[in-house]
Order: sequence, then structure tokens, then C-alpha cells
Amino acid sequence: MKISKNLRICVVGLGKVGMSIAQTFAQAGFSVLGVDVSEDNIEQGLEAVAKNLDFLVGRGKIDAAEKAAILARMDMDTDFNFVCDADVIVEAVFEDMKLKKKLFAQLDEAVERADALLLTNTSSLSVSEIASATGRPGQVAGMHFFNPVPVMKLVEVVKGTLTSDETVESVKQLAILSGKKPIVSADSPGFIVNRMLNALVVEATRIVQEGVGTVEDVDTGAKLGLGHPMGPLELFDYLNAIHLLEHVTDYMSQELGDRFRLPVWVKNLVRAGRTGRKTGGFYTYD
Ligand code: 3HC
Repeated sequence: MKISKNLRICVVGLGKVGMSIAQTFAQAGFSVLGVDVSEDNIEQGLEAVAKNLDFLVGRGKIDAAEKAAILARMDMDTDFNFVCDADVIVEAVFEDMKLKKKLFAQLDEAVERADALLLTNTSSLSVSEIASATGRPGQVAGMHFFNPVPVMKLVEVVKGTLTSDETVESVKQLAILSGKKPIVSADSPGFIVNRMLNALVVEATRIVQEGVGTVEDVDTGAKLGLGHPMGPLELFDYLNAIHLLEHVTDYMSQELGDRFRLPVWVKNLVRAGRTGRKTGGFYTYD
């Protein structure tokens, strides 16, 4: 597919990540449709986008007219038929294989353009398996963004077993036109970046478990000794995603071995409802 700013992109799943993916495309000049089952998600998500754009206006990076133009390029609804005439679909629903396969089967039925790209923002699951739910696996690929999406420059393009080379090239072009730098990963649990990140965070939690260092020491070590912008434990609090870390590392340890198994004390944090900044996580907040 020829990639240009005239393509109609539809993001399916407008939680925090899906909405920021939509924002990123809109900031880059694409018209973006968005679909979610929840009106609340849409309303709260659009408020968060407006706030982020206000921050950019405040910093003099965009002006009020540009903010209005970006928001005008974002058309969000609960109507699934929005997907029908899109050229590119980017799925950003919860990391659950059953859910994603069901959705991709529905997309395969509904999306009219024969050569449409059907992309998933999965952070770790098998793109080949998601593609198997469609009759067009050559057009299914991963397009994995990083948090905070409008800021982080990377996109992982994931090539499933049957993804065509043409699809990979198109997704790379789409990432570049969205202001991102693409890297290509084979279809393997956690791909390139989350495999590195999750190995780091699991090891960080073991260091704490063994009493080698505290939560604060681990994070300070990563920041001041390795130059990371945030320590690994601070990062998962910031992402409000300790429960997702558990979900993903359970899968990665099944597929890649015990090195990705989270210690029980972290699983207990999740069981106690401590999943990040909002509820308290590795740290306690006021
Ligand atoms: N569009 C463009 N730029 C934007 C923007 C937007 N919508 N919103 C903010 N920015 C810009 C700001 O203007 C600022 O630019 P400047 O430095 O040129 O002024 C820059 O982004 C940073 O903004 P802030 O000043 O608010 O933030 P900080 O400097 O405090 O950095 C941070 C915050 C970017 C979160 C930094 O701490 C960081 O990089 N942390 C690590 C994040 C990380 O590791 N993410 C990956 C997580 S893993 C993941 O996502 C995988 C998934 O599968 C779980």
C-alpha cells in the first residue's frame, strides 16, 4: 500500500494507549477514526488529549489553532462500523489473545478495502497467531508504540510468520510519517524492547528480594549508573502497569523460561491492588 497522509487510520480500543496512538497520528497530520465500546473511555481520553495539547501550547510548541486542528482530525465513536472504510487499522485492546483473535476475525469481515493493513499494538503476544484469525495474514503485522506514545520515538514493526515484506515496508513508512523511528522484530514473545525491559525489571525485583539493594537503590542505580531516564520500578509505577507486567511476564516465562518469572512479592503487590502510582505500587504516594 502506498503510505501517505491521506490514508484513513482507525484505532480500535481507546484506553490510555489507544487514545495516545490516535493523538500521535493526528499530530502527524493523519485523519484518525477511533472506536471503543465505552463512551466514558472516549470522553476521558479526549479530555486527556486536550490537556496534553494544552501543555504543548503552554510550552510554545504548538499554537491554539494547531491544537484545534489536531482535535478536529480525531473522530471517535462507539460505532464499530467506523472500521469499514479505513485503510489502516491499529488495534490497541487488552493483551488477551482470545479477545484479539475475536476482534481480528471481526475486522477481517468488516474492513472493505482488500489491501487494508490490519495492525496490532500488542506488546508481547504472537502476531502470527493473531493473524491466523483472518483470511489476510500477509497484511497483519505488529505496530508497537511506547509510553508516553506522543513522546517516545520508537515503533517496533513486528513481522509475523506470514506477514508480507510489502506490509513490513508499509508499516515502517507509516511509522516514519508519524514522526517515529521503526525497528523490525521477528515474532517472538516481548519482541526486542520488552524482552530487554522485562529482563531488567524482573532482575531488579530479585535484587530487592535478595536484600542486595532497596527499591530506591535499584532505581537510583539505573538512573545515575546507567543513564536511564527512570528506574525500572519507578517506570512501572509511572505506567500504572504492575498487573500488566505480571500478565506479560507470566506469558514470557512460559515461552522463554524462568528468567522472566516475577518473584512472589511482586505478584502479592498486584493481589493487594497495588499496581502503580494511582493505587501505590513499588512506592507509596500521598
Ligand atoms: N507531542 C510531542 N512532544 C511532547 C508531547 C506530545 N504530545 N507531550 C510532551 N512532549 C514533549 C515535551 O514537550 C518535552 O519536550 P522537550 O524536552 O523538548 O521540552 C518532552 O516531550 C518530555 O516531556 P516532559 O518535560 O513532560 O517530560 P520529562 O522530561 O520529565 O520526561 C518521560 C518524561 C518522557 C516519561 C521520561 O521520564 C522517560 O523517557 N521515561 C521513560 C519512559 C519509558 O521507558 N517508556 C517505555 C515504557 S515501556 C513501553 O511503553 C512498552 C509497553 O509495551 C509497556
